This record gives sequence, C-alpha cells and structure tokens, in this order.
Amino acid sequence: MATYYTEPSRTFSEYLLIPGLTTKACTPANVHLKTPLVKFKKGEESAIQLNIPFSSAVMQAVSDHHMAVALARAGGISFIFGSQSIEEEARMVSKAKSWKAGFVVSKSNLTPEHTLADVLELKERTGHSTVAITQDGTPRGKLLGIVTSRDYRVSRDSSAKQIREFMTPFSSLVYGQSGLSLGDANDLIWEHKLNCLPIVDADQNLEFLVFRKDYDAHKENPLELLDENKSYIVGAGINTKDYEERVPALVEAGVDVLVIDSSDGYSEWQSDVIRYVKSNFDVKIGAGNVVDREGFRYLVDAGADFIKVGIGGGSICITREQKGIGRGQASSVIEVAEARDEYFRETGIYVPICSDGGIVHDYHITLALAMGADFVMMGRYFARFDESPTRKLKVNGSFVKEFWGEGSNRARNWQRYDSGGKSNLLFEEGVDSYVPYAGSLQENLDKTIGKIKSTMCNCGALSIQELQQKARITLVSATSLVEGGAHDVMLKESGISGD
Ligand code: IMP
Repeated sequence: MATYYTEPSRTFSEYLLIPGLTTKACTPANVHLKTPLVKFKKGEESAIQLNIPFSSAVMQAVSDHHMAVALARAGGISFIFGSQSIEEEARMVSKAKSWKAGFVVSKSNLTPEHTLADVLELKERTGHSTVAITQDGTPRGKLLGIVTSRDYRVSRDSSAKQIREFMTPFSSLVYGQSGLSLGDANDLIWEHKLNCLPIVDADQNLEFLVFRKDYDAHKENPLELLDENKSYIVGAGINTKDYEERVPALVEAGVDVLVIDSSDGYSEWQSDVIRYVKSNFDVKIGAGNVVDREGFRYLVDAGADFIKVGIGGGSICITREQKGIGRGQASSVIEVAEARDEYFRETGIYVPICSDGGIVHDYHITLALAMGADFVMMGRYFARFDESPTRKLKVNGSFVKEFWGEGSNRARNWQRYDSGGKSNLLFEEGVDSYVPYAGSLQENLDKTIGKIKSTMCNCGALSIQELQQKARITLVSATSLVEGGAHDVMLKESGISGD
C-alpha cells in the first residue's frame, strides 16, 4: 500500500517569524551572513564559505560568466548553466576565473537617439556621470560613444539635443580589448589622462568600464569571494549524461564547485556521477534536488559535498502540474535540515543544504535560513538584474527581462529532465516568461540583505547559525495572511482624483 503523509506540505508564505529578545549589541552592522558551501568535519571549517547565503540558479536566463563575477564580487556564488556545449560552458568558467577586480559592467547606458534631457535625468537618478552609449541602450550592446559632463553644456534650448550630436564617438575613444589586464588598463588610464576606460570585445560590444577611482580602491568589495589566487570562486552545472567529457573540461577551466542539475536527484545516476567525480578529481560537487530525508541521505552516502532541496517550487516551474511530483518548499527544507542535523550528530560531518526555488519575497530567504537552509538558490530574483544574460525589453510600457525555465522548449535542456537517455523533451516542465526589470544586482542585494539582517536582529541573532538555533516560527492562517498586507485603507496610488 502507498505511504500517506497526513500533514499537507507547506510553502514559505504560510509561516512567520516571532521576534525574540533584541539585545543592544544586535544591530544590522554586527550581523554577518557567512555560511558553509561544502561539507566539513566537526571542529573544522568548510573549505569554501560564502560571505552571503546566495547562489544564482543553474539556468540559461540567469547564470553566465557576467553573473558569476557580479555575484562573487558581492560574496555569493553562481552556478554557470550546463545546458550548452561543453566548450561554451568551459569558456564561461574560464572567463569568470580570469576576471580581475576593477572591471565593472556599465550601470548607466543610453542610445544615440536619447536626448540631453535623458542624460540629465539618468545622472540625477543614479549619480553616475559617465554614460555608455550603446546601439540598444544595454550594458553589453555595441559601444557607439561615451558621454560625460565634459561633452555637454546645459542651456535653455539644449535639452532636446540628441546624444549622437554631442557624445564622444567610438572613433575618438581610447578603449581596451577584452582580456586586457587591470594593470594594463590602468596604464592606459594614466597615459591618456582618462577617468574611464571602456573595454570592448572583437565586435565592439561593450564588456566593462574601468574607472580610475575603482582601480585606486578596488578593495571596495570587502565580501568578494576569492580563491587563494585572488580569482573569483565559480560554480558550474553538470548533468548525468555527458559528465565524463564535461567534468574534465570544467576542471581544466578552473571551476571550484560543480552541481548536478536535475529536477529529481534521488537517482542512481546521480550517485554514479558523484562517485566518478570523487574518484577522479579534487573538486567539490553538490547534488539534488531532493525533498526528503531519504533523498538527502542517499546523495550524502554517495559523497555529495552539499545538497540542493526543492522540487516544483520554482517560479517558472510546471513540474507539479505536469507530473504530479514535488513538495511545498518550506516542508522540504524543514525535513532535509532535520536529516542534515541527524547526520551531523551521527558522523560529525556537516553537509550544507541549499533551498532552491520558490523565493518570492525577501523574507522568504530569512525563513529558509531560519528553517535550516545554509544558503538559497534563486532564478527569478537574479534574472531581473542588468547582470543576467537575457534581453531587456519594453512590454506594455514597462521594462522587463526575459526569463525561461530549463524545462521549457526554449532551453531544450533535455538532460535535466529526461531520465531514460532520449535526446529530446517529451513534454515541457517550465515556461517562457518575462520578469520586471529591477536594475543592478548590487543595489537590489543591498536592500535584500538589509531586510534579512534587520529581521535577524528582531530574532536576536547575529549569525545564520544563531538564527537557526533561536528562530521561533509560526504557521499563519489564511485570514492572518490578509492582515499581513495593507488592508482597510485606500492606497494613494489607486488613482483617486482630488478636487
Ligand atoms: P525561482 O528562484 O523560483 O525562479 O526558481 C529557480 C529554480 O527553479 C532553479 O534553480 C531550478 O531548480 C528550478 N527550475 C529551473 N528551470 C525550471 C523548469 O523549467 N521547470 C522546473 N523547475 C525549474
């Protein structure tokens, strides 16, 4: 007879944290979010510790080398998507590993058709006085010129002037080619008395800007996640089909951590991959996804360095509708965290767990951590930023970024979903969608981290480990969910006109 679970499985939105005593030492400035990425023995430290508990999803629409650099610079880790050729994935890993601090993705960008008024508005909003002018106005479009305050004079009738009339055109710019070292970039900056040096690829597409001030103070990212050679720590996704070719190429490219990317990781195929990697390479490997104690134990016994938790909760995921498998994300994390703690008590080995998918509000991250996750993985969250690889479009008057599931026809990631070895997707497990464009990764992360730290102070916790010990978590009723939002008031944005 089938086994029945009498309790329904639950999502993060069904829980809240109850505040604990906040001591005077408990201020956001004193909170740290350091967390282990890979397993370690009692009394020792994890060989890789994240400085913020964030990882970006193994997805085409989320994690390329640009995202890997941006997130490592902020203290987290990206897992570069595996649903591409082995050569391409290895190239992305190698680009991220050879990246040097001081190269930034351009944050203020316009097209030649924009006007001086647009430049002034952008400058007012962002505080940036250097604007890259690209063909499509994106940070990685074809570079056509640069505008700084030296290029224009504001007068009564100048605001409608098109940028093409006053920008410093590409033909007059001093620029560097991709691959240039930071030292050489700095030499060019000094030689030509520049404030900013654009770096372009062979097709004139903008890659980065190097600012004089950033070179002087490129230690301004105190949380950046570096290996012993001062390169960023980089993860990459693999599958259970071509691992004997893919893993050697990724290791050769310098990858620090692999993760087997699968919608259901409780399988003999995953066990085979872990054993193969462990017996041939000195590289860390995470596995998953699982949603219960048995799945956790199986992959840990096979040798996994961390375990990813979650089936069917992803924003673009339709696995539950298509196949009827999955479990509420909160219930999955709670049970797997218990299994992790049991395993630690039995063996003295701590195997970190990652809550993957289904984070909608920032407070869901705090809940996932409080419930026992060591770090979270997010797709939708990161897809909204400048640093994600997809196009930024205007739809119905609002800026959006494209975002599609690995199980959608667009991604054609049959290795992630097919368990029988056929090279096509029989049916889709993900959708193709848009997410609202949200600006730069760092600005958004700062806000999210601010909220997490503030909530941790409410709970009287200065670290994630302390949060996990002290958290008091309550279920909420359907009616108290209504009470949790603004209610019984007329919101001002609702368009009511006054007299
Ligand atoms: P999100 O943070 O809610 O967007 O969830 C991201 C997670 O969804 C990823 O890390 C994957 O585990 C999962 N995922 C990615 N693509 C698909 C898909 O097409 N179908 C089901 N799950 C997916």
